[in-house]
Amino acid sequence: MDDNSGRLTRDGIRIYEAADFAGMHKAGKLAAEILDRIAEHIQPGQTTQAIDKLITDWVEEAGATSATIGYRGYQHASCISVNHVVCHGIPGDKVLKDGDILNIDVTVIVDGWFGDTSRMYVAGKLSRKAERLIQVTHDALMKGIEAVRPGRTFGDIGFEIQTYAEAQRMSVVRDFCGHGLGRVFHAPPNVLHYGRPGTGPVLEEGMFFTIEPMVNLGRPETKVLADDWTAVTRDKSLSAQFEHSVGVTSAGAEIFTLSPAGLFHPTYG
Ligand code: MF3
Ligand code: CO
Ligand code: CO
Repeated sequence: MDDNSGRLTRDGIRIYEAADFAGMHKAGKLAAEILDRIAEHIQPGQTTQAIDKLITDWVEEAGATSATIGYRGYQHASCISVNHVVCHGIPGDKVLKDGDILNIDVTVIVDGWFGDTSRMYVAGKLSRKAERLIQVTHDALMKGIEAVRPGRTFGDIGFEIQTYAEAQRMSVVRDFCGHGLGRVFHAPPNVLHYGRPGTGPVLEEGMFFTIEPMVNLGRPETKVLADDWTAVTRDKSLSAQFEHSVGVTSAGAEIFTLSPAGLFHPTYG
């Protein structure tokens, strides 16, 4: 098999074959299993680089490849984004403290297929406002996924996410988006987490992409730190993110990155 399976739509979005869903399922499952396994290691006193080291080892033990190590100079198997870090947090010597919330984002390659998923964790005790942010972000992603079916549009997905988050008086980050994936990491289209119904490319069976909304308690603006990766909220407000990789089926969406242990949306305390 090569990168050219299936065909491209006029928007440049690849349409994969029915048989390709199995490859995505296997890659997505490994990424989700790694996120399941890391849950018990998220504790106050732990460093983000120690968490990343475990993930690096587990990807290798599985005989898979990290998609992020070596990607545009990035050197880690995960992104770990703590509190007001929106995304692309670099694992390092930062020590988690009680009440920190963090997103861990893992992308693996299995037999050439990419599985990309992220979810939220808490070190120690969760505050009420962080719990609400995490709940709303999770539910916004799932509302976006519910909008996936042939004939609807990418704008419909963004609209569902945006209207839900904003009705809770939270904001949706505009500066980062989801993406097509498959045998490549980032492909058309840009999957925006805001938008208007009926706009954007039309969804077709066989499209593979991520939906990965970032929601802030404060304003939506972000900035990237001097390390060229770490994106933070400009107003320092808390930010959360959840990500699934999905494929469009005749009936709706197949989620490739479901948690085998049922831990995608953790229940706290
Ligand atoms: N996994 C991220 C995404 O959802 C991309 C991370 S790229 C990295 O698209 F280089 F920062 F790891
Ligand atoms: Co992604
Ligand atoms: Co990701």
